[in-house]
Amino acid sequence: MLRYGLALIIFIFAPHFYHYVMDNNSITTYIENNKQRFLDELFELLRIPSVSADEKFAADVRKAADVVKGRLLEAGCDSAEIIETEGHPVVFAQKIIDENLPTIVVYGHYDVQPADPYELWDSPPFEPVIKDDKIYARGSCDDKGQMYMHIKALETMIHTGTLPCNVKFMIEGEEEVGSDNLGPFVKENKEKLAGDVILISDTSILSNDNPSICVGLRGLSYMEVEVTGPNRDLHSGVYGGAVANPINILCGMISSLIDEHGRITIPGFYDKVAELSSEERDDINRAPFNLEEYKSDLEIERIVGEEGFTTYERVGIRPALDVNGIWGGYTGEGAKTVLPSKAHAKISMRLVPNQNDEEISELFTKHFKAIAPAGVKVKVISHHGGLPAVTKTDSLAYKAASNAFTDTWGKKPIPTRDGGSIPIVALFKEELKTDVVLLGFGLDSDAIHSPNEHFGVFNFIKGIETITSFYKHFVALNK
Ligand code: BES
Ligand code: MN
Ligand code: MN
Repeated sequence: MLRYGLALIIFIFAPHFYHYVMDNNSITTYIENNKQRFLDELFELLRIPSVSADEKFAADVRKAADVVKGRLLEAGCDSAEIIETEGHPVVFAQKIIDENLPTIVVYGHYDVQPADPYELWDSPPFEPVIKDDKIYARGSCDDKGQMYMHIKALETMIHTGTLPCNVKFMIEGEEEVGSDNLGPFVKENKEKLAGDVILISDTSILSNDNPSICVGLRGLSYMEVEVTGPNRDLHSGVYGGAVANPINILCGMISSLIDEHGRITIPGFYDKVAELSSEERDDINRAPFNLEEYKSDLEIERIVGEEGFTTYERVGIRPALDVNGIWGGYTGEGAKTVLPSKAHAKISMRLVPNQNDEEISELFTKHFKAIAPAGVKVKVISHHGGLPAVTKTDSLAYKAASNAFTDTWGKKPIPTRDGGSIPIVALFKEELKTDVVLLGFGLDSDAIHSPNEHFGVFNFIKGIETITSFYKHFVALNK
């Protein structure tokens, strides 16, 4: 009785506050009451091995698209469709409640990275389990878990009568292979994708105690090289010491790509790198960083990188070059004595504003061929790439994201620059001229792309609440 009386008094004297409290209560209650089902549904999606990079999984990629489409309809979208591309399809859905209200465009991806090496997983990658309040499965964080939060946020807002605007979903199946077919799709469907903000949950926060909003992503140039020595594999005793070994040579060439100051040696590589002001650098370094924890988490004794820059700067605002895979010769069990004919490597370069991935791929190719010693032949091919992107911190959309985190995590988020890449972000900004907000909820320790990828149940649930709060603030700020 007393409770109702109090509610009545608040309702009469402070109706806005009443609605705020009631909406929030109903949203958190709805999420709490449906938590188990939300997780069960996510698990069903995680059981589908939608690996976009491997043809063997093409049917599973399609199946994941079908499931996502079905879930969008169940959540309350007016329409959902699977749109074919030259590669894996895009799922598009929308709910338009009033043409005069803002429209939020949600982007995410339902494809995942290959789960290899399988033997390093503690439980099978496509049989999700919860351990220590974390969901373990390939794609749990990147990006099925984070993408699914948006579908459940929509369901929650519809069921609690709190959906304040229109929403469109564009969920793709080729993010992990460079989104090559999404570029043409975006260009041809500008009308369909029109909206007031593009909302993406596919990045990380600093920690659960330090929420943050990603405002920068690096670009990418991904190369593959082949070094050929003799015309056939040779006996490493009969020929060893007398014939150039392509693996030895490849290793030397690769190690010459970074000098003793941690700088990449490709001529022209840094020409377009934007140097940040000391204020901007201070902002980046404001994020709490504990070197000892960083090292002990990875069980490494020292960290490396470009001289004169901190760890956050090295991954956020400076480029990097890394070998992602290297092979050749005999790698099977036991020992086989062989001097191989060929050596291979896959090399990625992470790029920052204002580097251009096509230009960098060209510089790499030219340089790599130039440093090949006589006696070997070098082939270089360029795989997918993407431009770096920086998002605004002075937009209404950023403010809405900041308010949403402040409400639901009880702490104002700080802006950060993440080291990963989402190539489509630069294209969205360029083609659609719409602000992008990277409202991610992962942690760097979630092991995305690695064995034992996981995602906190807390992050999944809290993220759904934060997304609903973003909608509320975004619409309020746009009034
Ligand atoms: N979600 C990641 C990108 C990411 C991860 C951004 C963590 C910020 C923090 C995305 O799925 C991804 O892995 N992108 C690829 C690029 C793609 C072209 C293969 C990447 O960064 O390697
Ligand atoms: Mn991702
Ligand atoms: Mn990824």
